[in-house]
Amino acid sequence: MLLGKWAALLAVVVVMEGTAAFPSPLLIRKVGEEAALDCTGAPGEKVEWQHEGRTQPESGRHFSLHHLDIPYAGNYSCWAESRLLHSVYVAVWVPEVYLIDEREGEEGEPAITCWAPSYSGILNCSWKSLHQATFQVHLRRTEPDAALCPSVEVAVPGNKMVHILLEDCSFCPYAEETPLVLVLKGLAEDGGYTEVRKTFFLREIVKPDAPSYLSIVGQRISWAPPVSWNLPAAYFPLQYNLRLESSSSKEDLFIDGLELTTKQENWQKGWIRCQDRFMNSAWSSWREWV
Ligand SMILES: *[C@@H]1O[C@H](CO)[C@@H](O)[C@H](O)[C@H]1NC(C)=O
Ligand SMILES: *[C@@H]1O[C@H](CO)[C@@H](O)[C@H](O)[C@H]1NC(C)=O
Repeated sequence: MLLGKWAALLAVVVVMEGTAAFPSPLLIRKVGEEAALDCTGAPGEKVEWQHEGRTQPESGRHFSLHHLDIPYAGNYSCWAESRLLHSVYVAVWVPEVYLIDEREGEEGEPAITCWAPSYSGILNCSWKSLHQATFQVHLRRTEPDAALCPSVEVAVPGNKMVHILLEDCSFCPYAEETPLVLVLKGLAEDGGYTEVRKTFFLREIVKPDAPSYLSIVGQRISWAPPVSWNLPAAYFPLQYNLRLESSSSKEDLFIDGLELTTKQENWQKGWIRCQDRFMNSAWSSWREWV
């Protein structure tokens, strides 16, 4: 009995976040667990509890919830007369795929994709939300444990692709790399809560944007790196893949530089893409000659 009580206490996770959309304080419990809510302040006053604005039959400073499940999740507030004394949002831990669409062919594995268009401090992530929900995204380093960029929060409808951009991340691209941890917290409108952690190295998710242009003037072909690749080319060289088509021939070339003179001059079509030459990163999308 005593042990059970301690276990319940230890299982309580209180997350304090200073933002409007993600409720604070937030009390997270698993399905079937209990939650003991305490009304702080104003000793001696008669208090009343409300769940999502509905007055509860129980009164008193302590309010207990047994066998928690989604219908009992939500905002609990305690009042003395019409004065709000305290409120707490009770959330129920649900499987990740309750809120986030799963990877095709991998049951129970949430499909979250992240890529960095450069090493210079931005990271794009996307996933599909299955419920109307609020998501909060943090990027951390494990050793030492530190936030790498300001967290991002989005409120989204259900059944929709979510795209977020983490900016001003201090990746320190010249230093030896340590793994990054993406922490994605989601709170559905019905009170279901989930948390996903993804660990990766920056170099594994680098995918440059497409080269910023491709120009073909007779035999002379030139292009420029993506604008977002704002890094010294000597340290972070790109390799380009150029495809050219005319009525009589086709070329598929791999080039390190930014220009090329071809023997032929009647090119009708051209495309170019790039990748990090040293890291053999993912290829960018194609830039077409127009
Ligand atoms: C919970 O309800 C109280 C009282 O209505 C309100 O002041 C508070 O902002 C609500 N919290 C959330 C997260 O909705
Ligand atoms: C990354 O996210 C930003 C902001 O949502 C967007 O403008 C940009 O196009 C995204 N990059 C890619 C490659 O999708």
